[in-house]
Amino acid sequence: MTRASLDKQPHEVASMFDGVAEKYDLTNDVLSLGQARLWRKEAAKAVAARPGQKVLDLAAGTATSSLPYAATGAYVVPCDFSLGMLREGKKRNPWLPLTAGDATRLPFKDDVFDTVTISFGLRNVQDTDAALRELYRVTKPGGQVVISEFSQPTWAPFRTVYTEYLMRALPPVARAVSSNPDAYVYLAESIREWPDQPALAELLQKAGWGKVAWRNLSGGIVALHRGVKAQ
Ligand SMILES: C[S@@+](CC[C@H](N)C(=O)[O-])C[C@H]1O[C@@H](n2cnc3c(N)ncnc32)[C@H](O)[C@@H]1O
Repeated sequence: MTRASLDKQPHEVASMFDGVAEKYDLTNDVLSLGQARLWRKEAAKAVAARPGQKVLDLAAGTATSSLPYAATGAYVVPCDFSLGMLREGKKRNPWLPLTAGDATRLPFKDDVFDTVTISFGLRNVQDTDAALRELYRVTKPGGQVVISEFSQPTWAPFRTVYTEYLMRALPPVARAVSSNPDAYVYLAESIREWPDQPALAELLQKAGWGKVAWRNLSGGIVALHRGVKAQ
């Protein structure tokens, strides 16, 4: 398996991430021109984890996204369905409780987490609505969700340049730095297909989340969506 198709069959997606696990974090930094670190910082601010809180980092991959939450003293559970990504994560962060689980059937009880978060993962889940409902189910009443995901640049001329960058530059650059460049063709295609900021906000509301809002990062290349579960 080199890349998943856009119908995002779970076994194809998991196997694609198994294949890029070792170089995933490095490739991320290179292809995002360092912006990935800034996006993680902003997500950490939105999550605002505190000591003693329980945080679910869904689709955590190698658990790099979990580290800023763990650094606050919160109890963070990184969860993912790619065993390759989890293995790589366990090598690097053996103290974290990395957990195998599918976003659409989470292996957790109801009302457990103060915050549930997913960064650059929701776009890869075949059934977005089911994942948003599962995230809602495992969140405590009054708890929150924070989603980081690629989105639509808000300034139209930049949007055009960005789409060109994505479609034309990403695969050749990926060929130079990635162990599986085809996975980055999927990345570019899946970003183009993904709902824009208001459309994702609507999906969150449909899954039950209240007080839904978003903030654009890097001109809308990424959006941080938030929602709250009613008390
Ligand atoms: C782009 S990586 C993001 C990793 C990490 N959150 C980060 O910010 O670097 C996407 C992850 O989503 C995971 N994933 C995709 N679909 C999933 C599902 N249905 N259940 C659990 N994990 C899933 C993949 O295995 C992959 O590790």
